[in-house]
Amino acid sequence: MQRTRPAIAEFADKTATIAVVGLGKIGLPLAAQYIRHGRGVIGCDISPQVVRGINAGRSHVQEEPGLDEEVAAAVSTGRLRATGDTAQAVREARVIVVIVPVMVSDAHEVDFRAMDAASAAIGAGLGPGKLVIYETTLPVGTTSSRLRKALEEASGLTAGEDFLLAYSPERVSSGHIERDLRTYPKVVGGINKESTAAAEAFYRSVLGAPVMTMASTDDAEFVKLIETTYRDVNIALANEYARFADEHGLDLTSAVAAANTQPYSHIHTAGAGVGGHCIPVYPYFLMRGAGADGLTLPRRSRAINDGMAEYAADRVESEIGPLAGRAVLLMGIAYRGDVKEHAFSTARLLRTALERRGATVYAHDPLYDDREITALGYTPFRPELAGEIAAIVVQAAHSAYQTFDFTPFAECRVVLDGRRGLDSAAAAAVEAAGMRYLYIGDGRRAGDGAR
Ligand SMILES: NC(=O)c1ccc[n+]([C@@H]2O[C@H](COP(=O)([O-])OP(=O)(O)OC[C@H]3O[C@@H](n4cnc5c(N)ncnc54)[C@H](O)[C@@H]3O)[C@@H](O)[C@H]2O)c1
Repeated sequence: MQRTRPAIAEFADKTATIAVVGLGKIGLPLAAQYIRHGRGVIGCDISPQVVRGINAGRSHVQEEPGLDEEVAAAVSTGRLRATGDTAQAVREARVIVVIVPVMVSDAHEVDFRAMDAASAAIGAGLGPGKLVIYETTLPVGTTSSRLRKALEEASGLTAGEDFLLAYSPERVSSGHIERDLRTYPKVVGGINKESTAAAEAFYRSVLGAPVMTMASTDDAEFVKLIETTYRDVNIALANEYARFADEHGLDLTSAVAAANTQPYSHIHTAGAGVGGHCIPVYPYFLMRGAGADGLTLPRRSRAINDGMAEYAADRVESEIGPLAGRAVLLMGIAYRGDVKEHAFSTARLLRTALERRGATVYAHDPLYDDREITALGYTPFRPELAGEIAAIVVQAAHSAYQTFDFTPFAECRVVLDGRRGLDSAAAAAVEAAGMRYLYIGDGRRAGDGAR
């Protein structure tokens, strides 16, 4: 076959169409970012509902400010359209950005099914002169082996020769993706120099942020895994400090604030556990395969952080006595405040820990309706149950909780803030309502007076 080697600058050209494969919480804001930089985007998704909604000018991603308007405008001007036919979109595009999920099962096995299916569809439409960039977080070696093979098999082309292939971890967080894309350096590694240069040129043309090139796709994959695992390990250390603080009557929050004034100290925040589909998941990507036995701290940190739900339940019990036969209100089933996302939420571990002690657990979350709360396996809280609640555990620091009315909870004696998320006015409102306000690492023991 005739080799077609496109000029690197073509990938930065405004006329080069971009296919974004996976139009979820990250993919749709990415499409909007490229459109803001004058590019045309074809979004690909296997969900007919997502495709229909976007083609009708509606964003299904609610967390990003202004995205609704941007999607409506981009669809009406023809800069954005969605399709379920990934192969056809790839035929029409010059650059293909892949951001479909790779998850772990409850047994911590990596689940590549969505990524394999997306890669087969991309390969079916792949032609010479295109650039494929994977952005989904991946175990080291996935792009250069599994995904490269899938693309080559489906297309009959050779990566690095006929088409270019790179990996660039997506490091943004839901809720402020536009800001993160503008400011976080974009890390890029290709399977060869040309792939790296093409991906670098592409990102320089669509992001305001600096681009950092790595020696290979493996190196770029490694970056995301070590930055996320670092956070899990750091939180585990904070959690061990919290237990120590509670044991010794010390306040961890003020100690960390003081310690972190030393520029080399970056201690994170202790809490009831670590949720979401990144921080508690990517250590398992890292700990997979050859050489993983040496990763003892990440393994231990996972156990420490997952053990914090039991610790939270212990603290509630040490405050009000055995929980058997008593009702507990779990505030927040989302994995973190103000984001409607419940993947690997600590709420699950807390519910198990509380129920293991015989408590009846009711769940509240302003971002989910009762039907959704029930579908996730929780019993929704109803206001008429307030008088039965013996304890409250705040699991997600939703801003709505700053003004939550704690006064109807006449029998409740304790609010354990698992995120240290209530501000001083809300904490004062809790105490004014006759309950003790506790958080992980506050050093307060049952029977202690106010500090
Ligand atoms: N959500 C975050 O905060 C975040 C942050 C940084 C990086 N990431 C990375 O982004 C990835 C995607 O996360 P997300 O939050 O956007 O997920 P999401 O579940 O919101 O969206 C994924 C989309 O991909 C679609 N999809 C699944 N299989 C497909 C296929 N074969 N072809 C086309 N579309 C397919 C789904 O229908 C869905 O719309 C994560 O796995 C992670 O690696 C996520």
